Amino acid sequence: MADISSNFLGIKSPNPFWLASAPPTDKAYNVERAFEAGWGGVVWKTLGEEGPPVVNVNGPRYGAIWGADRRLLGLNNIELITDRDLYVNLREIKEVKKKWPDRAMIVSIMVPCEEAAWKAILPLVEETGADGIELNFGCPHGMSERGMGSSVGQVPEYIEMVARWCKANTRMPVIVKLTPNITDIRYPARAAQSGGADAVSLINTISSITSVNLDSFSPEPSIDGKGSHGGYCGPAVKPIALNMVAEIARDPETNNLPISGIGGVTTWRDAAEFLALGAGNVQVCTAAMTYGFKIVEEMITGLGNWMDEQGHKTLDDVIGRAVPNVTDWQYLNLNYVSKAKINQDSCIKCGRCHIACEDTSHQAITSMIDGYRKFEIIEEECVGCNLCVNVCPVENCITMEQLPAGSMDKRTGESVSKVYANWTQHPNNPSSVS
Ligand SMILES: Cc1cc2nc3c(=O)[nH]c(=O)nc-3n(C[C@H](O)[C@H](O)[C@H](O)COP(=O)(O)O)c2cc1C
Ligand code: SF4
Ligand code: SF4
Repeated sequence: MADISSNFLGIKSPNPFWLASAPPTDKAYNVERAFEAGWGGVVWKTLGEEGPPVVNVNGPRYGAIWGADRRLLGLNNIELITDRDLYVNLREIKEVKKKWPDRAMIVSIMVPCEEAAWKAILPLVEETGADGIELNFGCPHGMSERGMGSSVGQVPEYIEMVARWCKANTRMPVIVKLTPNITDIRYPARAAQSGGADAVSLINTISSITSVNLDSFSPEPSIDGKGSHGGYCGPAVKPIALNMVAEIARDPETNNLPISGIGGVTTWRDAAEFLALGAGNVQVCTAAMTYGFKIVEEMITGLGNWMDEQGHKTLDDVIGRAVPNVTDWQYLNLNYVSKAKINQDSCIKCGRCHIACEDTSHQAITSMIDGYRKFEIIEEECVGCNLCVNVCPVENCITMEQLPAGSMDKRTGESVSKVYANWTQHPNNPSSVS
């Protein structure tokens, strides 16, 4: 059996699945039930400074995007950090950690961008016996207007400064949680590293408005006829998160910086993809909020089974394995040629591939042959773009087939070369080097 136990920054957990800082980790009741279900660790819902807690709206705080089957694809929220008393949270964190010593207990913190505020809260958290802290520089709404959350995460100099304060004032490992609401994720990651952070976690939520009510003209979720932007998460953000994780993992300046991957993880496969792109573990929020804590069972068994099938013994056999295969466009092999192929036995003759290719691509799929409805690839026109594969409603009905070296590409009339050649070497490139 594959060993899926995780060691992230020296913090051990029975598996790499942690719940992200959010409602699932807001209180002892939730966290204990999550541990019972099998979660390897949690990042406790973000704590603020001592004093009266923040106040949330008393109406809807979520907006959503669904697929045609009403499956939740994206979730938007306008919730703030914890609205429970700091000392109640600290007491519960201590009790839960004591009861569940083998699970990772990370505490998320967001206090004003002043050294005194960080110095004040760090010993309180340390006293709970927590395994580490996560600095919330990510929330894009509510707290950012108060000079916290993403308003810190959008300024690399502030990230570096606060990370340094924390490293100077605690023995706990420091994870910096990054906001995706920035142009180039490498800069905040580098800043976190320069400030001495032990790791980064990403992504927090993406600034968003999910919909507008066309009767009241209020953005949703609507509070008394008005809406404000919220933070977007769930399956829809996974591609953005994967890219940002990969950017940090392959940046020569940060390629040794541990990463906790977050954003749309719903299945073991999503988790494996984050690990392959360099994440040391993953954090989950929306999937638990949609399906409940027991989804971790599928993650645990699915990841273990796949690792067994592939012969991966530990997570280290998987972590970062896809990073060398992430490259810039200019280095892709222009001599790699593929064509679409339709399996006539599984084709239901819906015509979607034809109309997509005919109207918006390369007019490379027939609709009628000899007076019969028939969908076939016209190889002389097919550029191999795979749009048809993506619009076909029948899985694996259209496949992309690589043309072997030496065969004739009927579109160009040229023989397929076996030599790797990219844009930097192409004669059409004005700055070509060969
Ligand atoms: C309702 C809600 C509240 C959240 N609150 C916090 C928070 O207090 N601190 C934080 O760092 N992230 C917070 N997040 C962001 C999540 O921790 C996570 O980064 C994000 O949802 C992406 O993961 P997912 O796609 O698995 O949901 C919150 C997310 C949601 C949906
Ligand atoms: S791969 Fe692209 S060009 Fe070829 S048939 Fe499909 S949609 Fe048309
Ligand atoms: S989209 Fe798929 S199922 Fe529909 S006609 Fe094309 S190949 Fe057949």
